[in-house]
Amino acid sequence: MGKKKELEKVRSHLLNSLTCPLRDAATNLVFGKGNPEASILFIGEAPGEQEDKEGYPFVGAAGKQLDKLLRQIGLTLDDVYIANILKYRPPNNRNPTDEEIARHTPYLIEQIKVIQPEVICTLGNFSTKFVLAGFKVEGMKKIGGISFLHGKPVEMNVEGFSFKAFPLYHPAACLYKPTLREELEKDFVTLQKVLCLEQKEAKKGLEQWISL
Ligand code: URA
Repeated sequence: MGKKKELEKVRSHLLNSLTCPLRDAATNLVFGKGNPEASILFIGEAPGEQEDKEGYPFVGAAGKQLDKLLRQIGLTLDDVYIANILKYRPPNNRNPTDEEIARHTPYLIEQIKVIQPEVICTLGNFSTKFVLAGFKVEGMKKIGGISFLHGKPVEMNVEGFSFKAFPLYHPAACLYKPTLREELEKDFVTLQKVLCLEQKEAKKGLEQWISL
C-alpha cells in the first residue's frame, strides 16, 4: 500500500476514535498536507482560525511565511509534508494543554511511522519538546526552550527509528519580530546545508550499493 493510502487509514482511524472537546468546537479536522513520500516533515503546533476554516495546516499568515522560507531554500510543498501536534483548533489559539497533546499525538506518531522522514523540522516550543522527548508528553518539561535549541540538528533514535530533528522558531512568532525572523531565515540556510549533507550521504550509500 502506498503512503498516501496509509495516511488515509490514519485519518479514518482518527475520525473514528479521537474524542476531545476541541473536536466538538472545531469546524474541520486539520490532518496534514504535502507529499506523503517526502523525506522532510514539518511539525507545527495547532491549527489557527484559517486552518480550521479550510481543513489544512499553515494556510494563514504563518503559512505564507513558511511558504516563503521554503521557497528561499528551493523547496516546495512537493518536497515536504506538514502536520501539527494538535489536529483541531484550540479556542482563541491558546497553547495546547498536556491532556490535549496526549490525546492528539498518537495520530501524529502514526503519521510519522507512515512517512518515515529523514529530517523532522519542529516549529516552535511544543513540537520541539515533543519530538526531542522521543515523542513522549511526559518528557517534554525536561527539554529546554526553542531559543536555545533552534538551528541545531539533533540526531535522534526513537525505538529503532533514526532521524535528524531540526528545531526552528515558529513562523507565527516571527511575524511581528524582525530579529526572530532573521534568526529563522538563517536557520533555514542551515537547514538547506543539513539537507544537502543528507542527500550526499544517501548518494554515497547508493553508489556503494551499486558497486557491490
Ligand atoms: N500554526 C501552526 O502551528 N499550525 C498551523 O497549522 C497554523 C499555524
